[in-house]
This record gives sequence, C-alpha cells and structure tokens, in this order.
Amino acid sequence: MKNKILRLSALMAFVVFTSCKNNAQGLDADSVQKEYTGKEISSEFDTEIDKLVARMTLEEKIGMLHGNSMFTSGGVKRLGIPELKMADGPLGVREEISRDSWAPAGLTNDFATYYPAAGALAATWNTEMAYTFGNSVGQEMRARDKDMLLSPAINIVRTPLGGRTYEYMTEDPFLNKKMAVPMVVGLQDNDVMACVKHFAANNQETNRDFVDVQIDERTLREIYLPAFEAAVKEGKAYSIMGAYNKFRGEYLCENDYMLNKILRDEWGFKGVVVSDWAAVHSTVKSLQNGLDIEMGTPKPFNEFFLADKLIAAAKNKEISEAEIDKHVKRILRTLFQVKAMGGKDRVKGSISTEAHYQDAYKIAAEAVVLLKNENNALPLKLDGVKSIAVIGNNATKKNALGGFGAGVKTKREITPLEGLKNRLPSSVTINYAEGYLERYEEKNKGNLGNITSNGPVTIDQLDPAKLQEAIEAAKKSDVAIVLAGSNRDYETEASDRRNLKLPFGQEELIKKVQAVNPKTIVVFVAGAPFEIEDISQKTSALVWTWFNGSEGGNAIADVLLGKINPSGKLPWTMPKKLMDSPAHATNSFPGDKAVKYAEGILVGYRWFDTKKIEPLYPFGYGLSYTSFAFENAKADKESYASNETISVSVEVKNTGKTDGKEVVQLYASKSNSKVARAEKELKGFVKTLVKSGDSNTVIIKVPVKELAYYDAAAKKWTVEPGKYILKIGNSSRDIKKEIVITIK
Ligand code: BGC
Repeated sequence: MKNKILRLSALMAFVVFTSCKNNAQGLDADSVQKEYTGKEISSEFDTEIDKLVARMTLEEKIGMLHGNSMFTSGGVKRLGIPELKMADGPLGVREEISRDSWAPAGLTNDFATYYPAAGALAATWNTEMAYTFGNSVGQEMRARDKDMLLSPAINIVRTPLGGRTYEYMTEDPFLNKKMAVPMVVGLQDNDVMACVKHFAANNQETNRDFVDVQIDERTLREIYLPAFEAAVKEGKAYSIMGAYNKFRGEYLCENDYMLNKILRDEWGFKGVVVSDWAAVHSTVKSLQNGLDIEMGTPKPFNEFFLADKLIAAAKNKEISEAEIDKHVKRILRTLFQVKAMGGKDRVKGSISTEAHYQDAYKIAAEAVVLLKNENNALPLKLDGVKSIAVIGNNATKKNALGGFGAGVKTKREITPLEGLKNRLPSSVTINYAEGYLERYEEKNKGNLGNITSNGPVTIDQLDPAKLQEAIEAAKKSDVAIVLAGSNRDYETEASDRRNLKLPFGQEELIKKVQAVNPKTIVVFVAGAPFEIEDISQKTSALVWTWFNGSEGGNAIADVLLGKINPSGKLPWTMPKKLMDSPAHATNSFPGDKAVKYAEGILVGYRWFDTKKIEPLYPFGYGLSYTSFAFENAKADKESYASNETISVSVEVKNTGKTDGKEVVQLYASKSNSKVARAEKELKGFVKTLVKSGDSNTVIIKVPVKELAYYDAAAKKWTVEPGKYILKIGNSSRDIKKEIVITIK
C-alpha cells in the first residue's frame, strides 16, 4: 500500500513538473498531442422549446429564419426569445455594422483585439494556440454580447491565388482539422457558437456566386471535408455556414447531399445552418434541403427568400408547419445551449485586455517562419551596429482593416516599424524609408481580382524619389531590413489574385537595396505565396510573417532580435512558379460556369511530391536559430489491427546553443496500393520545446483509421492491409527517419 502511494506521489510530482515546465511555453505536458472534444448540444430544454413553439404564430417562427438586420436573425420579444447576434469573423470580433447596410455603425465601444489571420495560426502548428485563439475571441464575443462568431474559416487552400488564402488555414486536411477543432472548442467554452465556414468546396473567389464545383467523391471526402467533419463530430460546432457556390449542380445553401445527407444524417450535426450573406436562391427548396437561417445584404428583410415568400408558401401548403417548426427548434436549442436563453451564469467576457493582446502576441510569435538564414545572419547581433535601415511600405502598413470583407477595429496594431522601435536599444538609429508605394491604376482598380482582365491593376514602377531615399537609408546603415509582401487591400475576399508576382515594384526595390547593403534581411508580410525564387537566391536572410494581429510588429521584432526563436512552419507549399501548383498545372482553375478539380486528391504537397516537382519552400518547412536531431524514432509495435492506435516515439535533441521549439511531423506512405495514392500524407505532428543540449521524447499517436482511403464505390472509409511507411521529419521534404509497419 505504502509503496503504491509512493509511486503515485512520484508520478504526480512528475506530472506537475512536466506540466509546469511545458505550460509556461504553451505546450502540452509530455509533448503528446492533447485531444479536444466539445460539448454536445443538450436536449435538456426540449420540452420547454416545444411549449414555446406551440405558442408562436407562423410569422413569429419565420421571423427567426432570416436576417432582421445585417448581423442578427429575428427573436420573439413577447416570449423572451432574443435575436441571434452574430459577428465576423476570422481576425477577431468585427466592428459593429449598421442594422440595414454595410456602413460601420460608428460606435466607440466596438474595439477589439486583432488576432493573427488563420494562415498564421496554422503556421504555429500548435493546437494549444488554436484553443487559446478560440478562447480569447470567445471572451471578446461575450463582452460584445454576441452569440455566434462567423469563424473559423477552414476551406482548403487549393490555389495559391485564392483571395482568402490568408483567412483560411492550409492546403492539408489533417493540419486543418487539428487546428479547427481546438479553435471551435475554445470558442464554444465561452457560451458562444462557432459558425464553421464555408461549407464546403468554396476554394476560389472568382465566380464564387455561381460557379459549379465538380469534385469526385473520394477527393471530397479525403481533402475538402475532413476539417468540417471533425469540427462537427469532435468540436461539436453549433453552427455551419453554407457557401456561395454550387456543388454538383446545386447551390450549397440548398444542397440536399451536403446539408441533409452528409452533415446531418452521416455526421449527426444538431446545430443550425446559416447561409453566407446573400447566398440563398430559393424558399421551400433551401429549407427542405437543410438551411435554417438566411442572412444577406441590404434589401428589405421581408423580401428575403425565407421571409414573406416563406409565409406565403406555408399558407399555400407548399411546405408544412411541422417542417418550419423543425428549423425553429434547432435555433432555439442553440440559443439555450449558449445560455442566450434559459441559462444562468453566462460568460461575461472581456475585450481588448492586455491578456488578450498577449494571447495575440503568443500566436503571432509562434507563427513567424524563418525561410533562410545563411551564415547565421539572424538573429541580428547588435554589437557594433549603430544604425538599421527599415525599408518598405509594409513597415508601417496596418492590416486589421482593409480590402473587402471582415476586419477588426482595434486600438492596438503594432506595425513592424513600431515593433523595432519598441525593441531596439536607443543606441541604434532607425533610418526609415517607405521605398515602394501601394499604388493602383485608378481606371483598372475594379479589376483587382479579375484574373481574366489584362490591363495593369497595380503600378509597379517605383517612385524615383522614394527609391533614392531607400538607397540612401540602406547605404548609411549597418543593416537593412526590407518589409515587403502584400496587404489586405491586395489579398482580399471576393477577388483571387491575378498572378503571384510581388506588386508595386518591390522586387526591384529589394535588389537595389541589396546592391548597396550586403547585410539586407527581407521580411515578407503576406497571407499567401508569392513567386520569390530569385529574391530568395539573392538574399541571405528571409523571414515570413503574416497579417499577424495586434502584436504582430512586436513579434517580428522579437524574432529578428532573437528574443523569440522562430518555430513557425509553412501551412502550404511555396511553389517556384504558379504553374507548378496542381490547379494550374492541370489547367483547372478558375473554370467558367463550372470548375472541375482535375488534380483530384493531389492538392498541395501531395501533388508536388507525387509528381516530383521541387517547390521553393515545402509544406511544413521552417528553420530555427538552433538545430535539432531526431533520434531513436520507433513505433510501439510492428503490426496493428485496424481498430488500434500506432504510437511513435521520437527523441528530439536540441543540438544548438539556443532553446527552441520543433515540430515533429509524421507522414504516411503506402506503396503497392490498389488505389492511387499521394506520395505521402500528414497523419500526425507534435510541437515540442527543447532546451539547448536537452532531449525531449515526443509521442505521436496515429489511430490506424487515419490511414484509410475513401472507397467511393463502397461509400466507406477503408484501411488497406499491408505495409505502410511512416516518415518522420521536420518538413514534408526533410524526412529523417522511416519506420515500416504492417496493418493486418
Ligand atoms: C463572407 C462571409 C462573412 C459574411 C458576413 C460574406 O461575404 O463570405 O465569410 O461571414 O460575408 O460578413
């Protein structure tokens, strides 16, 4: 007995020790991936709901099924049913919009924390950061008295041109789901609904209002649906937003296959389906095919498809009142679930607090990706450095607002220039020069996202005086930092980019600065790939940062100066050129009335690896200021049954002089498969903090069912027996160890 207690207390001490050690760094104890599960919608209030519905008039019920302002759907005051209050979105709680137009409401109490864009969050490869993100935004939602956040946005990055690439997470379905689930759980832990969007196969902005997406069943299941499925089944997301486009001939907000068959019947979704704004095209059909709430853009709200037209249809018996009740009950259940009704002690929340800015900082700092670092040019060593040139419009450009689509009105957005001023000692002089100007050809600006138009949209000639100023600044400084890339006017919802060239003459600027200052560091601020091969070859230090939130400028300064050791990894492939990427190599973007995803399952690195095309920087890639060795990688067994979980352990040794975080990535390959397979697929990852000189054992658990492919003919997931190779690396192209296992 005594022995047992001793062992138990030793174990407890160990657990406490490891969790303290790791919690401080935002990593889970023992470096095993933590699993997140949300709370199911409860049926506790069903009797009460039935009674309420029995007291409602037809008009009151239908009032709940459509927008009655830009971001609310109707309530029933006399019965104590509140409006359902929504807010965008992926960057944090959007500013208040007028009730009946897109104009900002002009309030003074709608400031919020600007969080890093989803691409940045995915680049952390840290699921705890995704929980932090959701939890922090959830608090802000409650402080603004909202019920539903229109986020996370988890469509797959199919083409690097996609205007919303910055707003989405990744090209990979596994990374996508592993980040989406904790974000949903973190958010919903605050009595707020997540509205996971845009369901589904909404992978381009071009023709998004009508394009008919054609995807074969296996590709749909393996690439485009897993994150939605996990958000519903594991995260228990309380709502889903239908997309604008069509899928196999039917609009996605009235798509029986997607909304009724897959989402509800197969996945058991119990929440509400909300339309994208003005994405509804029918009355009875959309309701019967799975939509619950129609939201939209300004027009009289009674003219919505699910307003007067639905009242008329119900009166004409084109739809039964029982069908309408079904949708009303779904909405009521979610309102009870988040305590907008019935519950006590609803989370009160807080907004724009220092703690939330620090959440944004932590995510931002882990998101920065070090792409190149020859001769340890970074972190900057300040001995003997008296002056630094900071060059580029992106040094001061703010991205919380901008472009078409949801942003955040924030009191704090630290730009890179401000971050450097905050962090550099006063002995270092900063010589700032704007360098390039964000300029558009006024007559063609409307064509920003028109990928088929020819006239120039951006002005790509440098202003001679601005160029000269930049050259002078670089010449007289010990080091030059160029902040290049794009911004949220250039990368935006409703437009895809026309090409992957750096706009506004930046390439020329970078080269001219490099010519006068060999110690030039290039920092990209962007949400999506660019063609930067030439710059990359000519630059010794290259860093990638994002639309990186309120604290983005401090985070990038801390990385450049070495206070933060970078640990971000690319969540998508950086191609050498656009035509190397699958949707373009197969000439299947953007389609016209329809678009067929000709590359099938070979999206992102699956294409590059299978077709043996060298990317510029691969998926999962990112350097550190220290070096790591992976040792003793092994699986717990040699062979597994299909209901078992493979456990792979890897010792990660920090062989350098700085503490750092590394992401151990596990990819699976199946040769001699009876179906076409990608060369490898991500099936597990763990981020771990290792002190200089130390080793840390990480354990990656892979349920064998993760190795399944979708058998379209049999309509089920199938694990093929036989040999699989598990490839352990720190990017999709840097595999350090292979383990062969057998599935029985
Ligand atoms: C976007 C959605 C957004 C909605 C409301 C639409 O244009 O596609 O993502 O939530 O507007 O702002």
